[in-house]
Amino acid sequence: MLSSRATSSCSAAASKRSAAQVVKAWNGLTQTTCASTFRPGLVYAQQSQWAPGRRDFSTSPQMRMKEFFPKPDAPNIFKTEAAWPHPIYSEEQMRNVTVAHREAKNFSDKVALFACRILRWGLDRVSGYKHADAVKLSKMDPELARKKYAMNEHKYLIRNIFLESVAGVPGMVAGMLRHLASMRRMKRDNGWIETLLEESYNERMHLLTFLKMAEPGWFMRLMVLGAQGVFFNAMFVSYLISPRTCHRFVGYIEEEAVITYSREIKDLEEGRLPMWENMQAPDIAINYWNMPEGHRTMRDLLYYIRADEAKHREVNHTLGNLDQKKDPNPYVSMYKDLSKPHPTKGIDHLKPTGWEREEVIGSPNK
Ligand SMILES: [Fe+2]
Ligand SMILES: [Fe+2]
Repeated sequence: MLSSRATSSCSAAASKRSAAQVVKAWNGLTQTTCASTFRPGLVYAQQSQWAPGRRDFSTSPQMRMKEFFPKPDAPNIFKTEAAWPHPIYSEEQMRNVTVAHREAKNFSDKVALFACRILRWGLDRVSGYKHADAVKLSKMDPELARKKYAMNEHKYLIRNIFLESVAGVPGMVAGMLRHLASMRRMKRDNGWIETLLEESYNERMHLLTFLKMAEPGWFMRLMVLGAQGVFFNAMFVSYLISPRTCHRFVGYIEEEAVITYSREIKDLEEGRLPMWENMQAPDIAINYWNMPEGHRTMRDLLYYIRADEAKHREVNHTLGNLDQKKDPNPYVSMYKDLSKPHPTKGIDHLKPTGWEREEVIGSPNK
């Protein structure tokens, strides 16, 4: 009741004021009347921990914030499990993830790398992430560089949410197009579709996890909407033209994701992100990654997410090495020679630059 009354009074105000004034007014209103009443528990608890009495991320009104993932109204259901259970990662495996780059070897790779750099440039502008500038300036004046370019929890969250909302698109587009191609051509897909859809599912779980920490405001939602509209269609057309280039492109994007999360982990471990130091991972993350007791902090979460990105990097570079129409998916195949390591769903034999075709499919004459 209170919520609807408050919302309608704000709507009336909205018709008379500019958007900026309304946002200001909403934020002011919520601080006095609605602060704790309408906030979801987790977001409230975490924001209180970050900066009491102040919103750190969102520009949307607090009174309109709602529990992001309320339990569905289904009295007969106790729990709904993830359709694709996440593979178990060991701490050692996650720590062993490294930054890597696959050299662009041909024209298709170069196109993919160029497209990745354009996307990275756009993302850097949106999230205020200027690593190259920061490194340059820090050589001359480290203190000024820190003041001007240092990333904080707020900036990293914006970057992560935007990055993850885009990252969930390629796997879904590729899976959808292969699904349609299989039906249209009346041919088997050889197991690619599930891996591609699972990848986009995993990326969406990254997004949902970050959304548990902060609610994006209208500007970010608009950016995500625009990016998704453009990116989905660009991927759709590109995948029809050259699926191999698209997988290489995703491989390069995932290289960047590993770099970003490695920097976040480093900043956190070196004390530059104090608000995250004692933060616990949200329940959605604990359940999805099966995070063991005693390893459920924000720091642990970043290790899990970075490992996922490293896996996507490997998968997409590997798929980019294969014959797109004929080769089976190496990640769901069983191998004749069990004495050698093979691709798996986990990160036990992680290959940062992907498996070469000869290693997984074999050369035709052998
Ligand atoms: Fe991700
Ligand atoms: Fe990713």
